[in-house]
Amino acid sequence: AELSFLHRFEPGRDPAAAPLLLLHGTGGDENDLIQLGRMIAPDAPLLSPRGKVMEGGMPRFFRRLREGVFDEADVRLRAAELADFVREAREAYGLAAPVAVGFSNGANIAAALLLTRPGVLAGAVLLRAMVPLAEPPKADLAGTPVLLLSGGMDPIVPEENAARLAGQLRNAGARLDHRTLSVGHGLSQADLTLARDWLATVP
Ligand code: MLT
Repeated sequence: AELSFLHRFEPGRDPAAAPLLLLHGTGGDENDLIQLGRMIAPDAPLLSPRGKVMEGGMPRFFRRLREGVFDEADVRLRAAELADFVREAREAYGLAAPVAVGFSNGANIAAALLLTRPGVLAGAVLLRAMVPLAEPPKADLAGTPVLLLSGGMDPIVPEENAARLAGQLRNAGARLDHRTLSVGHGLSQADLTLARDWLATVP
């Protein structure tokens, strides 16, 4: 379908399973997380857009001034754009509200989506996320399930920053499960296992 983001859509074997909204990291594209999505949710429909912001030829989901310093006006704009895409795609493919699975920059836009557009996501798995907005609007996430997996040795996301994001999500009412693994910024087998087991508990 011609939607507002380049994307891949993979129908699921179980049409009742919550679809995953796969959000890649900087330099990734719509193909990056398909295999990961299949591993952690074997039967779910997979919806995977490509970020529209280019940084030296690398797709991202919002602009940054430098590593870890974000253009927050752009974060808000891009989160709104992504919310529109989710609405279009749900209509085009007949999907329920998706659970986001985002890595790095993709996790950061997923966090922004949760905090600025509650109701768009049924839940989220945030892999190595950091605070996308220093002062997010007052959001009502009313029990929305969120799994935040941080790396205790992540050189990009300081532990304090991940803890601050956890606080923002909890304050907004999310049902947050935050774990810190003994890993860096990259994904590990533990991320996949935890994400898969957690997703199995999300209705
Ligand atoms: C970001 O820009 O969103 C974070 O620095 C993570 C990254 O994409 O490297």
